[in-house]
Amino acid sequence: MKNYKDKNLSVRVRTEDLLSRMTIEEKIGQLNQLSAKLSDADEMRKNAVQGLVSSRVMASTAFAGNEEQEITGFDEINLLQELALNQSRLGIPLMDGWDIVHGQRTIFPLPLAQAAGWAPELVQRAAEIAALETAEWGVRWTFAPMLDIARDPRWGRIVEGFGEDPYLCAQMAAASVKGFQGESLSDKRRIAACAKHYIGYGMSCGGRDYSACDCSEHELRNTYLPPFKAAVEAGAATVMASFNEIGGEPVTGSKHLLTDILKGELGFQGFVVSDWYAIHQLINQGVAENRKEAAYIAFDAGVDMDMLDLCYSEHLPALIEEGRISKERLDDAVRRILEVKFRLGLFDDPYVDPNASQRIRDEHMEFAKVFAEKCMVLLKNENNVLPLPKSGRKIAVIGPLAEAKRALMGSWTQNKSDEGIQTIVEGVQAAAPEAEIITASSLYDEMLMAAQRAEMVVLVLGESDRRNGEHACIADIELPVGQLELLRAVRRLGKPVVSVICSGRPLVLEEVDHLSDAVLYAWHSGHQTGPAAAEILFGNVNPSGKLPVTFPRTTGQIPIYYNHKPNARQIDEYYYPESTDYFDTTGKPMYPFGYGLSYTTFAYSGLTIDKEKITADEVQTVRVTVTNTGNMEGDEIVQCYLRDCSSALTRPLKELKGFQRIHLAPGASQEVVFTLDREKLGYYGKGGKFCVEPGKFMVYTGGNCLTEMCTQFEIVK
Ligand code: BGC
Repeated sequence: MKNYKDKNLSVRVRTEDLLSRMTIEEKIGQLNQLSAKLSDADEMRKNAVQGLVSSRVMASTAFAGNEEQEITGFDEINLLQELALNQSRLGIPLMDGWDIVHGQRTIFPLPLAQAAGWAPELVQRAAEIAALETAEWGVRWTFAPMLDIARDPRWGRIVEGFGEDPYLCAQMAAASVKGFQGESLSDKRRIAACAKHYIGYGMSCGGRDYSACDCSEHELRNTYLPPFKAAVEAGAATVMASFNEIGGEPVTGSKHLLTDILKGELGFQGFVVSDWYAIHQLINQGVAENRKEAAYIAFDAGVDMDMLDLCYSEHLPALIEEGRISKERLDDAVRRILEVKFRLGLFDDPYVDPNASQRIRDEHMEFAKVFAEKCMVLLKNENNVLPLPKSGRKIAVIGPLAEAKRALMGSWTQNKSDEGIQTIVEGVQAAAPEAEIITASSLYDEMLMAAQRAEMVVLVLGESDRRNGEHACIADIELPVGQLELLRAVRRLGKPVVSVICSGRPLVLEEVDHLSDAVLYAWHSGHQTGPAAAEILFGNVNPSGKLPVTFPRTTGQIPIYYNHKPNARQIDEYYYPESTDYFDTTGKPMYPFGYGLSYTTFAYSGLTIDKEKITADEVQTVRVTVTNTGNMEGDEIVQCYLRDCSSALTRPLKELKGFQRIHLAPGASQEVVFTLDREKLGYYGKGGKFCVEPGKFMVYTGGNCLTEMCTQFEIVK
């Protein structure tokens, strides 16, 4: 006799056996996710015993990582699992979820900053550490990675994703899923990933959160889908449906997007969870008249688990009774959820060890430092003002963020303790103990006095961690009020000025660039922002990050991204419109996608392709040699772009198709090889079909998207 409690049976068999024993009420209970508010503890315990709750969101507001939150601790986690496992009729454990966006105890750079490292292996390692720390907390599911392509830095959530490019984002998506989930979810150190927000949330009209947006299916498939496809292929256990609409249909209610494309075409086997109150919000969006219709629309569309709305538990019983929702659809949703719970091993051991140390491990902190160093981007370095001298010069380290702690951690930081955060000033003191440092960071007149007394100035500017993230949008992406004025005043002192910018999103830096001798974009890089920035400032580390998103010159240039479509009037190959569309500014961005400087220089030579003509099913190989022509060892991020020159539908002027981070000693050279296969050569063409079309293709290699080093080949029939 098969029994789902038997650990030796396969997940499939256990799931089917359990499903066959469940009542409709118990099945609907598995679709129900509640908030882990402490105030609801009694209610929650009752629900666990009655099998009416499947999961908890470890947050009490929708601004999880941004608010102090009241969430239950180990005792409550273990008690609830004990009640669910031993006192409910069938003993189905809970599967709690938490927004672990860039670390749990050890805080890494924000995802947008992580993308600036162009190192999927580091993203994977960070997710692996975050998984371990989250699992040690008793939670086995994260609502991450966020895979929304975002091209509007006014939108606060741009910080949660990996930037503007589908290929870069797809690489990071796969790395992140592998890091969270590992080889097997049954490993107690791993957690289930949730690819979110499927799909198009990053289009955010005008940079406003939760706004209506729209795009064609062509754009959807070619720009927004690739990261989700990569996450599904990497085995993401869950997907979150997004709030936004596409083509007049909220994604939460779109059978086409959730069932046909995600579960059908992409073959997604896990379950779909709604976003916070998104089912109920179908009423606000005007497509559901009431909560019952909202439940019907979302469930029929393919949303399996209801986050907080209680729409499913209230209305699915009647909808099933009335025959509007089939028992097969109910079983399909429950099966998907149970399978993930079985795969996580929750039926066999859902408990957390309350005695496990919750301290940050040194090795995690060390890795966080290396990661932060790789993510920071040197934007300007005139006359080699950087690296700074380690002794002999008096250096003022000033600015509103010079001694900040929380701000450096960034939004969506679940670790609310200040322990272990080092400021930029502390980082500088550690990186250059001999240096004579003067600091001031609160009163502007004191900052100026410090600058006056010094020979060089490091001015630390940027955003608070609360000025970005969910529902934290700004209309103008200038530095916060007063900071430019401070920079202007410091500049007037006539000393070398190095601006260090700590932010989650791109800011407009035209004047900062103009007034500074050097600019280092340090992002909100988590615990190790201070030490990592300091190592770079003093040359202990050679900067190597490159921008994963275009930095506009003015807010009015938004949207501006490198991989745009051709302009009907401009026949030249402009990657950003050169002969401007505006009378009052250039069409060029401040810093292009893929851009970042080093303390050394790299030369590219010998770009070749293997074959001048290939068929659509053949693979093209691209080779280029990179040489370190400077005096310091360093990393270069070698990029490969493609342009499909003649196609049935328009294609972007350039598209990233490969990158490699390489390390070169002074004088050393390395050949870097890229392969272009069917997936990279093709696109979703007419009728949404993936195709590789014959014709001319240009291949570019270089250190950022503006590279002109190119060759060409042809795809023949
Ligand atoms: C956000 C999601 C998040 C959820 C749970 C929502 O408001 O949009 O990204 O996972 O809250 O915290």
